[in-house]
Amino acid sequence: MKNSILSGIQPTGELHIGNYLGSLKNFVELQDEFDCYFCIVDLHSLTEEFEPGAAKRKQILDIAATFLAAGLDPAKSTLFIQSHVSAHAELAWIFNTITPMGELERMTQYKDKSSRQQANINAGLFDYPVLMAADILLYKPTHVPVGHDQIQHLELTNTIVRKFNHKFGQTFNEVKIYAQKPLRIMSLSEPERKMSKSEPGSFINMFDEPEEIHKKLAKAVTATDAPAGQMPKGVANLFELLTHFGSPADHERLMKEYQGGTIKYSELKQVLGDAIANYFAPMRVKRAELEKNPDQIIKIFTAGAKKAQIVAQATLAEVKQKIGLI
Ligand code: TYM
Repeated sequence: MKNSILSGIQPTGELHIGNYLGSLKNFVELQDEFDCYFCIVDLHSLTEEFEPGAAKRKQILDIAATFLAAGLDPAKSTLFIQSHVSAHAELAWIFNTITPMGELERMTQYKDKSSRQQANINAGLFDYPVLMAADILLYKPTHVPVGHDQIQHLELTNTIVRKFNHKFGQTFNEVKIYAQKPLRIMSLSEPERKMSKSEPGSFINMFDEPEEIHKKLAKAVTATDAPAGQMPKGVANLFELLTHFGSPADHERLMKEYQGGTIKYSELKQVLGDAIANYFAPMRVKRAELEKNPDQIIKIFTAGAKKAQIVAQATLAEVKQKIGLI
């Protein structure tokens, strides 16, 4: 049987290049080889502050258009919106009943987010990883493509797998992260932390205009302390980005200059900025084109939800039967 893949992205604003490299880029590459399910996790996004109504709808549509513009193909992958498949919320409730509070209290993302949004530490924020486990396990995937920051959530998913199987009989298999070395793209402003939407100055968005990209890179920190013989973290991050977006020839030349002590960071930033802008230019055009016809986007994702529902309902029925719900 073909290995299968599930992953999700929150609609909380434009995706940054860390999101792209850690997840979406892999999704596009995986869809030829695997049976893929990719969802926009709108229910997860409600755990953060947001503007309701038209602004939230726009965030969801923007990510849907971004999926398509990046090359996800509804003929190859099942693309859907989480809230269109109610089994996600139902299975999350069932998993809630076997997930120890202590496991959720340990989650670093919960600790981080609750310290940042102290006025809104809602139960959903605490429960977030359980809903994520339900998203994943409904489709019984073998692998989950995510960035480094999601490893702890996948470990919790596997704890839930073991607890469920132990209590109700073999139903789920443990999942693996898809990546030899899960990516952690670092912040431009504080290179010891990850690039994150919630830290202004830390990120470049996929669809930033070229001038904006250059402006953000100009402020990127390069002069951090590093142990003798080691590259400063900020510089290492710029070189890592150049590996993904630039040409091998530019990377080699600039690395030689770095090693020879002749590098000008302004030139590294100029080359990298151009490379990022060029890389995303065709996607930027494609997304603008797609957004002219939101009904078509909604149609694609509604059709995807119908396909996802069949698989999700089958798993939910199996779960209910194992538990003894009638
Ligand atoms: P979200 O929307 O916050 O992030 C989407 C993806 O981007 C990755 N990512 C990064 N990768 C590398 N470097 C970074 N600096 C960086 N920042 C973010 C994240 O690891 C993620 O892969 N909890 C998930 C959403 C989710 C999900 C799921 C994922 C809900 N249910 C089921 C997989 C399967 C999240 O953080 O999304």
